[in-house]
Amino acid sequence: MQRKLMLLAASALVMFMTVSMAFALGDGNGRKGKFLYRKNCRTCHNGATAKDLSPADMTQAEWKATFADMSKIKCSGDWTVSEEDVNDIFTYLHDYAKDSPSPAKCS
Ligand code: HEC
Repeated sequence: MQRKLMLLAASALVMFMTVSMAFALGDGNGRKGKFLYRKNCRTCHNGATAKDLSPADMTQAEWKATFADMSKIKCSGDWTVSEEDVNDIFTYLHDYAKDSPSPAKCS
């Protein structure tokens, strides 16, 4: 009985941490994010399959708003990246946004 309770408490904790992580975007690894974006997103977002999408296409606030509700991003159902990877990708897009100190185009 006690063991069961412990297990329940542990899984509740894990759930809680996963959910709170999903809402805490930012402070990811932007360098890794750049690599992950090229590997997982640029394959479509190259101007052929989907529109050419670079960090400098949006402001930091716009990237935040876009990623605040990922279900509204049309292709998010096709993403095969982990939540941690999404955070790194977000960090890359956000840190090199139009109004960032170093806007980036990824061509
Ligand atoms: C299978 C192809 C495909 C992949 C892979 C893909 N996308 Fe998309 N994405 C699309 C299409 C199609 C649209 C909607 C129309 C368009 O932008 O051409 C879209 C739309 C978007 C939008 C909304 C853009 C806007 O201006 O409305 C964002 C943001 C986005 N994708 C980000 C990403 C990110 C980040 C990744 C990688 C994790 C990714 N996409 C991977 C096909 C893809």
